[in-house]
Amino acid sequence: MIDQTDLGGSFTFSDTSMTINRMGYGAMQLAGPGVWGPPRDPDAAVAVLREAVNAGVNHIDTSDFYGPHVTNQIIRQALHPYPEELVIVTKVGARRPEDKSWVPALSRQELTDAVHDNLRNLGVDALDVVNLRLMGDGIGPSESSLAEPLASLIELKKQGAIRHIGLSNVTPTQLAEAQTLTEIVCVQNMYNVAHREDDDFIDSLAAQGIAYVPFFPLGGFTPLQSSALDAAASSLGATPMQVALAWLLQRSPNILLIPGTSSVEHLRENLHAATLQLPAHTLTELNAIATGSKRDAH
Ligand SMILES: NC(=O)c1ccc[n+]([C@@H]2O[C@H](COP(=O)([O-])OP(=O)(O)OC[C@H]3O[C@@H](n4cnc5c(N)ncnc54)[C@H](OP(=O)(O)O)[C@@H]3O)[C@@H](O)[C@H]2O)c1
Repeated sequence: MIDQTDLGGSFTFSDTSMTINRMGYGAMQLAGPGVWGPPRDPDAAVAVLREAVNAGVNHIDTSDFYGPHVTNQIIRQALHPYPEELVIVTKVGARRPEDKSWVPALSRQELTDAVHDNLRNLGVDALDVVNLRLMGDGIGPSESSLAEPLASLIELKKQGAIRHIGLSNVTPTQLAEAQTLTEIVCVQNMYNVAHREDDDFIDSLAAQGIAYVPFFPLGGFTPLQSSALDAAASSLGATPMQVALAWLLQRSPNILLIPGTSSVEHLRENLHAATLQLPAHTLTELNAIATGSKRDAH
């Protein structure tokens, strides 16, 4: 157990009673290689989750399509009965055929089944937050109406299976459409110090009090590599990954972190990033990483 109370400060999801620490944990890395099947070391996966919660993490991101089913089953094994303050955010909208690909699963039946799979495998009566994950163009979001799949989640919320709804891999236009239909508490898109397509979106979400939860905060399957990160890390006595996480925390107060790891050592390192203060000149150097970015430090 590590002694750390500073996890980036807290964030309260707008119009809810859910308050969490800004430094959370993403559980995708707990499944086997390719996010498929059981982990190589199941005991280590359980240890990572317990270490996170013991350190004060109260925001875990998951999906029943990680594994599939495996990640949620490990979360349940490691943490059930869950601490009252723990918020588990899951996502629906994809499924994993036997060829291990990721395909859209947005029909009413598929979404209903996905929500019930999450309920069963997590061992809960209601899901705290469910993100509707759109597949976009296979790389990033693409414009299309989300009214039909969102209607299925709104129905499941009315039935009590879901407490709050979020969106993943969406554009500002899709968020605006969703907000005509229901309350949206968070947006989960790809973003990190090197991929800043959502800069304006983040600012507009901040103004609305909506959480922005970047996936691939460390680069995901292609870990971030940059001489500016290396230089900042060595000048601060930190690691490049810690600098990347600290940059996100300083970028905007509505950014919540869910770095993924299968290692207790990396988990500790990532959580300690919340205590790192990046000076203004370092922020300026890091802001130059994203190609063509002319933004000032945030
Ligand atoms: N909404 C979506 O479509 C979507 C898509 C992808 C992910 N997500 C969510 O976002 C979370 C975060 O994304 P992610 O896990 O894919 O990517 P990530 O957090 O950017 O990076 C994870 C990778 O970085 C490595 N890593 C973690 N900490 C490290 C450290 N301190 N030093 C060196 N390497 C480190 C991990 O390997 P080790 O295991 O060896 O530490 C893993 O390979 C996921 O867990 C998932 O919950 C959502």
